[in-house]
Amino acid sequence: MSLTAEALGNEFRGYLEAEPGPKGREKVRDRLKQVLTDAEFVAKYLREDTREREVIYEDPKLGFCILAHHYRGPKDSPPHDHGPSWAIYGQAKGETLMNDYELLEAASEDKPGKVKKTRSYPLTPGIAHVYNEGDLHSPHRTASTHLIRIEGMNMEKVRRLKYQAV
Ligand SMILES: [Fe+2]
Repeated sequence: MSLTAEALGNEFRGYLEAEPGPKGREKVRDRLKQVLTDAEFVAKYLREDTREREVIYEDPKLGFCILAHHYRGPKDSPPHDHGPSWAIYGQAKGETLMNDYELLEAASEDKPGKVKKTRSYPLTPGIAHVYNEGDLHSPHRTASTHLIRIEGMNMEKVRRLKYQAV
């Protein structure tokens, strides 16, 4: 039987319960890398009609989510972190150019933080990357992409602060 988002979520919960924090997330990332090249899984969850953001699994116990994304056309995103959460980006189709930043000045509700770019690297199909709490990054793409992302909690419910690159 082919892998489902639910079965994958159960596997991820196992890793995250056994090793809470960055260690467990690295296990999730390594498993996600395999899934990104699983043709059946990709065909099932990353279709042409997949929306920009689809929660395909939400863990009832730990609250993390598995998301399918079909981003259409070129786009530059501003630097951001995921507030109190961590995230894992997994590239399945297309290419994302990711930039990392260091924090120069903290953000507040009414003032964007200041950040400086430290490196850029491509996420190509089969590559997955962990962003722990506070890790600042900005994805850029020149054409459509499909990703599987894991969020430590459903970010739809979380307000984010803004950052400016200097
Ligand atoms: Fe992000």
